[in-house]
Amino acid sequence: MAPPKIYKNYINGEWVDSVSHESFENLNPTNREKLIGLFPHSTPEDVNRAVEAAREAQKSWRLLPAPKRGEILYRAARQLLERKEEFSEQMTAEMGKVLAETRGDVQEAIDMTFYMAGEGRRQFGQTTPSELVNKFAMTVRSPLGVCGMITPWNFPMAIPSWKIMPALICGNTVVIKPAQDTPLSTYNLVSALEEAGVPRGVVNLVCGFGREVGGQLIGHPSVRAVSFTGSTEVGRAVSQGCAPTFKRVCLEMGGKNAMVVMEDANLELALDGAVWGGFGTTGQRCTATSRIAVHKDIYRQFSEILSERARALHVGDGMDASVQMGPLINENQLKTVDGYVEIGKGEGAKLLTGGHRLTGGDYDKGSFYAPTIFGDCDPKMRIIQEEIFGPVVSLIPVNNFEHALEVANDVVYGLSSAIYTRDVNRAFQAMRDLETGIVYVNAPTIGAETHLPFGGIKQTGNGHREAAVTALDFYSEWKTLYIDYSDRLQRAQIDNQ
Ligand code: UN1
Repeated sequence: MAPPKIYKNYINGEWVDSVSHESFENLNPTNREKLIGLFPHSTPEDVNRAVEAAREAQKSWRLLPAPKRGEILYRAARQLLERKEEFSEQMTAEMGKVLAETRGDVQEAIDMTFYMAGEGRRQFGQTTPSELVNKFAMTVRSPLGVCGMITPWNFPMAIPSWKIMPALICGNTVVIKPAQDTPLSTYNLVSALEEAGVPRGVVNLVCGFGREVGGQLIGHPSVRAVSFTGSTEVGRAVSQGCAPTFKRVCLEMGGKNAMVVMEDANLELALDGAVWGGFGTTGQRCTATSRIAVHKDIYRQFSEILSERARALHVGDGMDASVQMGPLINENQLKTVDGYVEIGKGEGAKLLTGGHRLTGGDYDKGSFYAPTIFGDCDPKMRIIQEEIFGPVVSLIPVNNFEHALEVANDVVYGLSSAIYTRDVNRAFQAMRDLETGIVYVNAPTIGAETHLPFGGIKQTGNGHREAAVTALDFYSEWKTLYIDYSDRLQRAQIDNQ
């Protein structure tokens, strides 16, 4: 057997081992006998070195004209495009989702990189008349400094790109800790940036675990902002960790996204949306369609056909083009999902299909779970209220439109929602009244595009938005500039009366 591939951290423009000289394994969730490689088990000292490199590099990076920073990003985007297939295959190997989806993940990083490269020639501020004569007033965006990033395993290239690219174009430098289940895809993203000519120290990659790496990043006094995507539980700890030093923090956390299917909906379209939204990425998206409120007149028909469709899904190795759903990321996640299925049964929800791990043959080598549907759920059940992050969809029969919206809004989360209806009045009321950061009409809850704001309300987030031009608001401070060319003292609020 060939020796395992050994990967390194990227600090100050060099690929270096952790000071611990220890490593951790990156395993293939489809077949845990397959080792993807060994990654550095980094320590707080590695973080300190990376932050120091980023702090030093920021001094010149912030002075490089933003269009020039944009040129580097354009080159990085082209690199990603050129290596899209290779990176997608490696992502399927480390994360498990099917190749069509990992191609989508890499594409999302490409889109974000091109988009933010373009922002190098925009980053518009405002000019506005001064209240005084011969005085000029305007605003410019100013970088923050070193930005720390902690990213999840479900979109291991796209989500790091949502954070790195806007940070860079605004003139910040970066230290990123990728999820320990999927460091290779972030490694590939950082390699593309290196290849594109990002100066040393501007982007730093430190692999490892939350306790040593994430914790140090959050507490480090030279880190000015932290962007985190992951669980609500960890997000709360990140927020608390950032509070003593008043770091700016962007939190993108849990979701419990509802789809509403009204009696006038195009049923076929709604079923297609439910299967894709519920079981795409094995349900491991924060935007996943995990609850469906179905009008009682079509409930029986909808639940029967959806169960048949779920049962027919081909689950297996994401490299196989006929496979529609891959494994869960690891055994822990499988235990969590299975635990929720038990909770659902205990609460009296009706298990319509699935509800067990898949075993036998190749399934025994990975973390595979059957697509699962619960019917006749009560809105107060835990399987309706709590994020499961797996291939479990729960159906709630509803009496009318008002009831559907009430059910949809009755959770602590607020990321994404969807309504299927052909009634334009209901569609507009739903767009207004659904309490989520993203609302889809006649499309499932997944599928956000990079040039529109991404983020949730309520306990999903803390008020920031990723992607789009709105990401620049997180990664920059507004600076207000007054230029008095009157050659005399002019006092605002006094001399113009
Ligand atoms: C996530 O699940 O954390 O909108 C991100 C979507 C994808 C991104 C999902 N573009 O479903």
